[in-house]
Amino acid sequence: MDVQLAIRARGITKCFGDVVALDGIDLDVAQGQIHGLVGPNGAGKTTLLGLLLGLAVADSGSLEILGTPVGRALTAAEGVSGFVDGPGLYPWLTARQNLAALAALRGHDARTAGIDDVLHQVGLTDVADDRARGFSLGMRQRLGLAAALLTRPRLLVLDEPANGLDPAGKKHVHGVLSRLAEEGTTVVLSSHRMDDLEALCSEVTIVATGRVVFSGPLGKLAAENRELDYRLLTGDARAARRLAADTPGIQVVDDAGTRHDADMLVVRALVPALDALVVRLVRDGIALRELAPLVSPLEAAFLSLTEQQELAEQQELTEQQELTGQQELTEQQEAGL
Ligand SMILES: Nc1ncnc2c1ncn2[C@@H]1O[C@H](COP(=O)(O)OP(=O)(O)O)[C@@H](O)[C@H]1O
Ligand SMILES: [Mg+2]
Repeated sequence: MDVQLAIRARGITKCFGDVVALDGIDLDVAQGQIHGLVGPNGAGKTTLLGLLLGLAVADSGSLEILGTPVGRALTAAEGVSGFVDGPGLYPWLTARQNLAALAALRGHDARTAGIDDVLHQVGLTDVADDRARGFSLGMRQRLGLAAALLTRPRLLVLDEPANGLDPAGKKHVHGVLSRLAEEGTTVVLSSHRMDDLEALCSEVTIVATGRVVFSGPLGKLAAENRELDYRLLTGDARAARRLAADTPGIQVVDDAGTRHDADMLVVRALVPALDALVVRLVRDGIALRELAPLVSPLEAAFLSLTEQQELAEQQELTEQQELTGQQELTEQQEAGL
């Protein structure tokens, strides 16, 4: 079974001084999968991706990449390519020259390295002979992806690859990644755009403060018994609202921050209660025209996590302040003040 895993991590920890960036991470990523890494700022995503790329080594735990245990050397495992914190490019070289330089560094002949092909794949053919220094963030990201593709990786690791991409750029990148996965390449990418992850990934791992809080297929996250806000458009908003207010397990949400629309009803509910409401609506002759979650299950999980984290941080701060206050008081008392 493990033979088919592109990544197998167990109990990975990584500290920077007092900061615990990764706190016992377990992660399984099957080969040929596009796996998304989600989490609030500072969750540890970049640190984890850096370990996969051999840019740093874990303090403890075990990591296997493409079936081979990762040692203590700061080097990318065979078959792994990608970047964190944006790709490294030579600003004064053109897109094509950047790729040729990389190919040369790896001892390949620039004429046969497939440079035109990867430029085409990421949609940079038209600017192939422009200098990278004039490139937008999205173009630099695409050039970085092209550089990673040149190595024909079996595991591609990308940190926020969709940053700065316009819709056309995104289409190229999504196309490239989907095609790679179909051909058996494993892709691990981080993103704070849930819609991107939902469009691309078969599985996601949610991390918060260096720990995995969820890892698995998106469908599993959706099936988790979580209350979501749903918008309903019916043939009779007034009657629907009355019925919703009268249905157990349904909370009518008025200040949902959505566009104000008298015909629209927003309810917060678990799926069984929502089902009951729909049945009642139809039975009462009220037509249901639209029913959709306001945010996706992934977005909801992410938002609730971020809120929890902010709450925990606030609590910690208050406790610290109280402690400091008590300490000062004790010191004053001891000093006989
Ligand atoms: N080189 C570093 N030196 C010190 N602290 C770091 C370093 N890299 C990351 N950290 C800290 O580790 C934690 C995780 O950071 P990071 O992996 O960049 O999170 P994310 O990519 O999810 O935003 C943060 O608290 C960050 O400040
Ligand atoms: Mg990061």
